[in-house]
Amino acid sequence: MADPVFTMKGVTKVYDTGGAKVHALAGVDLELPGGELAVLLGPSGSGKSTLLNILGGLDHVTDGRVWFRDLELTAMRDRELTRYRRDHVGFIFQFYNLVPSLTARENVQLVTDVARDPMPAAEALDSKTGIQVLEALHQINRDFGTATVVITHNADIQKIAHRVIFFQDGRISRIQENTERLAPADISW
Ligand SMILES: Nc1ncnc2c1ncn2[C@@H]1O[C@H](COP(=O)(O)OP(=O)(O)OP(=O)(O)O)[C@@H](O)[C@H]1O
Ligand SMILES: [Mg+2]
Repeated sequence: MADPVFTMKGVTKVYDTGGAKVHALAGVDLELPGGELAVLLGPSGSGKSTLLNILGGLDHVTDGRVWFRDLELTAMRDRELTRYRRDHVGFIFQFYNLVPSLTARENVQLVTDVARDPMPAAEALDSKTGIQVLEALHQINRDFGTATVVITHNADIQKIAHRVIFFQDGRISRIQENTERLAPADISW
């Protein structure tokens, strides 16, 4: 694979909640190239959000190393990670990631606050359906060669992916390459 956008080597993440240790990621090696849309699938608690939070510079690994191109995320302090997020990362959170104590507008504001050039909150509130979001991702992925990672519980969404990465117990259990892909408008919801 030529020049991956993301490289993860031996990544582990252990949450220590005062006594009980949870191995959210238990040794993940992964390369994600530009221009590719990857879908992460797996049971609840298998580590999908943990992985995405680490790639997005929102969380630190317990062990292992992570690079964005030639920038090593695991060597960065919080200030550098903030800069990395602003310069290189786009997030779209689904409604179940919202903070319940905040209003819808405040929730959108929370996300736009971390971006360098955010849309006005009222405008971002307008986005209507999952299909429109996926179509926008699809187009950005194609036109700008981004590495795009989508987490979903809708197994049908895997049909739009170049690669489907299956998680189980904090590990990648299987990677499936799709030779044929559906357009977002053609998947069932
Ligand atoms: N902040 C945290 N503190 C303690 N444990 C956590 C924390 N975040 C996640 N975990 C635990 O780490 C494991 C992986 O969680 P993660 O959120 O990455 O799973 P997921 O695959 O995204 O699940 P879901 O499909 O429900 O979103 C789970 O056992 C979860 O309970
Ligand atoms: Mg999750």
